[in-house]
Amino acid sequence: MTKPHLSILVIVIVILIWSSGLMVECGIGVNWGTLSPHRLSPSVVVDLLKHNHIKKVKLFDADPLVLRGLMGSGLEVMVGIQNEMLMALGSSPLVADNWVHLNVSKYLVKGGVDIRYIAVGNEPFLTSYAGQYQSYVVPALLNLQQSLARANLASYIKLVVPCNADAYESSLPSQGAFRPELTEIMTQLVSFLNSNGSPFVVNIYPFLSLYGNSDFPQDYAFFEGTSHSVTDGQNVYSNAFVGNLDTLVAALSRMGYNLMPIIIGEVGWPTDGALSANLTAARAFNQGLIYHVLSSKGTPLRPRVPPMDIYLFGLLDEGAKSTLPGNFERHWGIFSFDGQAKYPLNMGNGLLKNAKNVEYLPSRWCIADPSRDLSGVANHVRLACSSADCTTLYYGGSCNGIGTKGNISYAFNSYYQLQKQNSKSCDFDGMGLVTFLDPSIGDCRFLVGITSSSAGTHINWWVFMFGVLTFIRIMS
Ligand SMILES: *[C@@H]1O[C@H](CO)[C@@H](O)[C@H](O)[C@H]1NC(C)=O
Ligand SMILES: *[C@@H]1O[C@H](CO)[C@@H](O)[C@H](O)[C@H]1NC(C)=O
Ligand SMILES: *[C@@H]1O[C@H](CO)[C@@H](O)[C@H](O)[C@H]1NC(C)=O
Repeated sequence: MTKPHLSILVIVIVILIWSSGLMVECGIGVNWGTLSPHRLSPSVVVDLLKHNHIKKVKLFDADPLVLRGLMGSGLEVMVGIQNEMLMALGSSPLVADNWVHLNVSKYLVKGGVDIRYIAVGNEPFLTSYAGQYQSYVVPALLNLQQSLARANLASYIKLVVPCNADAYESSLPSQGAFRPELTEIMTQLVSFLNSNGSPFVVNIYPFLSLYGNSDFPQDYAFFEGTSHSVTDGQNVYSNAFVGNLDTLVAALSRMGYNLMPIIIGEVGWPTDGALSANLTAARAFNQGLIYHVLSSKGTPLRPRVPPMDIYLFGLLDEGAKSTLPGNFERHWGIFSFDGQAKYPLNMGNGLLKNAKNVEYLPSRWCIADPSRDLSGVANHVRLACSSADCTTLYYGGSCNGIGTKGNISYAFNSYYQLQKQNSKSCDFDGMGLVTFLDPSIGDCRFLVGITSSSAGTHINWWVFMFGVLTFIRIMS
């Protein structure tokens, strides 16, 4: 009786090898931000990445929990340094040595984390920072480069500085130039990057252009053709992303670095919290972007380049991000906070697959007690929403039309889940009520939180088959 089983196994393995041969080795990575009140455990997130064949991940810090979760994963990692640390790093070689030692060298061991880039600051030249970090960037780079050299890592790890696209400007791509007050610093930065073989990292957000300018032509933000193309000499631009990228290419060429490699550090589209932030638009933008990148079409100023590395923003929704830029800020994930794919998206290897082994709190919700007079509730709602996320309730959000009672229930539930369903957190002076019936209405989802220990080190089927495959490849 073992023979038929064996042949089935062989067929399965053959199919797996065949299909894995078709998988595209692409440079599409994701930004893994962790400002969420409901954090998935790093091991669940790492499994999610592997399971979706995402090979590159960009972090905003060097959180030991996250880095430990990435150990042995084989993923290519960019760690980050927050802007607040630039001054200290730039003023002391010792601080830089320490940082490299604690947050990088320690992980670059066998079975460790494959750290390839260090992002020195995050958009430190952003106009709204009014220059407060500007002068620390190059000194921090120089000290960190020395530290990497002392740790024998200078040839393996590249220092980069993710810049916001507001670092350069122009009405036509070919006229691109860095902001005048940044000319000197950009000259130093680009020369530093060039001498170390590092790429220029830029964050490009057509969504923000659309959101911020009522006269921005909607279809120019997407990749499906436009009736508002931009003609620039012999070149015609039909898409804001490509036009923006070429503006940077022109700005770099103007400084004499027309071949400097470029990586897109952040790009994406949010799904909630504003009218143009919705599932349809996010899917259209991200899918159009991915196909554009995978097609290696390049841009008019850089045709036929090898596929560029891009990092989607972001992997998961982050319900604790500041809403200063807008309510959409907490809804950039291609997955919701609990690792569920929000819409079908093909990153080159088939559609996104959901996270496994996510451990939810019990299926219960906190709502406004329908039998109670709710006249004094406003303060409770305000307090609940000052710590929990209520961004979907506002204009343009998925829960904007659910009525007064709906609003109150949403706020109560958001707070209750944030408090891990602690029974006291659904009191609200007797106006709250725990229910076992999901109050979600239409697109408006009333969430159930996840346990803080959400899953440990599960070996799932895919990881097992991957092991079998690797074994077979090694043997053959
Ligand atoms: C670097 O490592 C130290 C010690 O583990 C940690 O306290 C610090 O937060 C890390 N830095 C960053 C930017 O994550
Ligand atoms: C989604 O966003 C797109 C892009 O701005 C917009 O055209 C469309 O009307 C929005 N869809 C909905 C249902 O709001
Ligand atoms: C629900 O709350 C949102 C946000 O405060 C508000 O815009 C909306 O008008 C409210 N709806 C009702 C029916 O009160």
